[in-house]
Amino acid sequence: MAEKIIIIKNIGSIINIEKDNRRLMSKVSGEASGNPDTLDNAFLVVENNIIAGFGEMAEMGSVISQYETCDIEYTDAGGGLLLPSFCDSHTHLVFPYSREREFEYRLNGLTYEEISAKGGGILNSAKAMDSISDEEILEASFKRINGIIATGTGTVEIKSGYGLTLEKELRLLRIIRKLAELSPVTVRSTFLGAHAIPAEYKSDPERYISIVTEEMMPLVAEEGLAQYADVFCEKGFFSREQSERIFDAAIRFGLRPRIHANQLSDCGAIDCAVSKGCISADHLEVLDAERIAQLASSDVIATLLPGCAFFMDSDFPKAKDLISAGATVAIASDYNPGTSPSGDMLFMMALGCIKMKMTPLQALMASTINGAAALELSHRKGSIAIGKDADFFITKKIPSLAYIPYSYTENPIERVFLKGKEIRTNNI
Ligand code: NIG
Ligand code: FE
Repeated sequence: MAEKIIIIKNIGSIINIEKDNRRLMSKVSGEASGNPDTLDNAFLVVENNIIAGFGEMAEMGSVISQYETCDIEYTDAGGGLLLPSFCDSHTHLVFPYSREREFEYRLNGLTYEEISAKGGGILNSAKAMDSISDEEILEASFKRINGIIATGTGTVEIKSGYGLTLEKELRLLRIIRKLAELSPVTVRSTFLGAHAIPAEYKSDPERYISIVTEEMMPLVAEEGLAQYADVFCEKGFFSREQSERIFDAAIRFGLRPRIHANQLSDCGAIDCAVSKGCISADHLEVLDAERIAQLASSDVIATLLPGCAFFMDSDFPKAKDLISAGATVAIASDYNPGTSPSGDMLFMMALGCIKMKMTPLQALMASTINGAAALELSHRKGSIAIGKDADFFITKKIPSLAYIPYSYTENPIERVFLKGKEIRTNNI
């Protein structure tokens, strides 16, 4: 059978394209992150779900002649932008129920820590796991995935962490695996047994840590349920020293470390990230100049979660200072029921610009190539390059990239392609 080729023509601009595929980016750091390549008046060729070529419209005829014997399907981009799909490298999108009651408590003056200390927060979600079936969680999570596809996400990391018992953590990780099998997005999975200390271990946290490291991790690794291990390193949750021990065990089980760091306080999470070789340190709302320099001189990707700072009404991470110090900055949604009930990466990009003063190009690179790097997928994802997966979206005809964060409640995405297949979304 003739090979199936998709040609997208009349693209106003492809942004974050790699023209020389012999030297692909693995990530972009510092000020360079504001200078991706672009190609105007372009076409793009997809062959076998992979990006196979691109060029200016004027050259399209000669390039197409090589596909004479193939079955070509044309898509007219109508002058819209073509962007690589977002790589959302930090979410908790598999959770039982929304938690708007706690949102109301916060509006009435309680803090997140106070709500957590009373058994709300993460412990509340863990309790809710007892009154919901796996099918119901799967269905709700599937809807969330469809929502994030419509707002441009093609790759997503999902953490467990609402189980906090062996049985419930495995349930969550198996649901994540099902989502990975059934949905067109690419999923990376993270074991977050060390998300909170269950009430029954409050007086003996070491016992819970040994359950995480000696009972949960071996089974997670044996079933191949996660690529990463994460720890919520924070006062009232896990200390730096406890986090380091949890990561030592994780590494022994082949689970690579990433960390929730400096969300509410600085308790040494960044020292832990650097010493244990965490791929990313995520949150970073509480960050002084010394910590910025420490991150910038390390390989740890600084992953900022502006949706969380927005929803919690806290200080936003200092993206500009991190970038000027030379750090690698990613943006992710932190989609979760407690601190960021949205996985909309278009909005995260807008917050990156409006609240963290990133340029639209910096926010795009943080949400694409650097998100891919934070998931060790930048060889396949995160930019438009020959040989990479055909994960991209096409916008309606808009004046420029800046229009996306500028018109921050509008979804300009018209067509979504993941692994070379067009995905129908509600937005169309
Ligand atoms: O990233 N900080 C820890 N974990 C989540 C919140 C989880 C929850 O409240 O359900 C976060 O903000
Ligand atoms: Fe988180």
